[in-house]
Amino acid sequence: MTKTILRALAGETLPTPPIWMMRQAGRYLPEYKATRAQAGDFLSLCYNPELAAEVTLQPIRRYGFDAAILFADILLLPQALGADLWFVTGEGPRLSTITTQADFDKLGRGAMIHDTLNPIYETVKILRRELPPEITLIGFAGAPWTVATYMIAGQGTPDQGPAHALKAENRALFEAILDRLTEATVDYLSAQIDAGAEVVKLFDSWAGSLKDEDFQRYALEPARLITQEIKRRHPGIPVIAFPRQAAKGYVGFHAATGADCVAVDDSVTAEWAVEHVQVGGCVQGNLASRHMVTGGDALVSETRRIVRAFSNGPHIFNLGHGITPDADPANVQLMIDTVRGV
Ligand code: CP3
Repeated sequence: MTKTILRALAGETLPTPPIWMMRQAGRYLPEYKATRAQAGDFLSLCYNPELAAEVTLQPIRRYGFDAAILFADILLLPQALGADLWFVTGEGPRLSTITTQADFDKLGRGAMIHDTLNPIYETVKILRRELPPEITLIGFAGAPWTVATYMIAGQGTPDQGPAHALKAENRALFEAILDRLTEATVDYLSAQIDAGAEVVKLFDSWAGSLKDEDFQRYALEPARLITQEIKRRHPGIPVIAFPRQAAKGYVGFHAATGADCVAVDDSVTAEWAVEHVQVGGCVQGNLASRHMVTGGDALVSETRRIVRAFSNGPHIFNLGHGITPDADPANVQLMIDTVRGV
């Protein structure tokens, strides 16, 4: 096995950690903006296999990352289940809301998701043909809780209030939404793997707002079910879990879910994550995204500190969350050069 990402995911400690970056294809890159303009809008770009493959490849060409992440979005799955989805420029996603049993009953299930999501699998196929052999292709989906927060509120929310309210007021409906998403996520990831994804990642961006028992039931348990079923259907396919801002919830997450790698955000220190997370298996992440905006000595010293801290176990270098549109592409190069020691 020569691909460095797959070696790290299998538990190997490498002399230099492999690197990729969350949201590595995105608005901080002029070539992304050009292709997005050509596509017309963000969703048209997601559903255009040629152009989606092109933007996936752009950061690989520019920087030589060790992994490519499929260009798509976590909100395509609710759309495939029948929710309306659109993006408001400068504001973010909007969806038709699911707050009643009648709303829920309108959602589809089973193989119907593929009618909408087929172009995404096409993108995966193109990428497997076009990617250099040493680069790993990562597929992904949103975790059920995070996707549900958008479906229930109809948009992004600072505290996931509407989803917490539905959980309190109609737990049966709330759990039915999560169950439907869990089932659909397995089918979606499984189809990405059939098309050629070599690793899958589950983004639980809002896991941090679930506490204690809720975290166990609605973040950890769906991640466990999805990971187990993916591994049953596709033996040997590694899974990366990202329960963002899980804090103490990160502890034991590998063992409890079966995930091969747990991605950590920057609300924990690398030293803490070595002791409490890397003991369970491969870790990914931790550099604060703002360094991609600010650069300079702080970027270099923080990058070195993270590499050094994780150097005695399996580690994939990444940011703690996605790169932001105001990032300077030169700072990404500085981060990579620092990690690779050139
Ligand atoms: O990482 C990658 O480069 C792969 C593609 C990818 C996108 N979104 C493209 C995107 C991935 C993995 C995602 C995941 C995603 N999408 C998450 C989970 C990770 C995270 O960041 O917490 C979430 C919560 C979403 C939902 C979403 N999509 C929001 C809230 C927004 C609007 C905010 C924003 O950044 O504009 C999006 C839009 C989006 N998804 C963009 C990109 C490149 C920007 C769209 C544009 O070009 O205008």
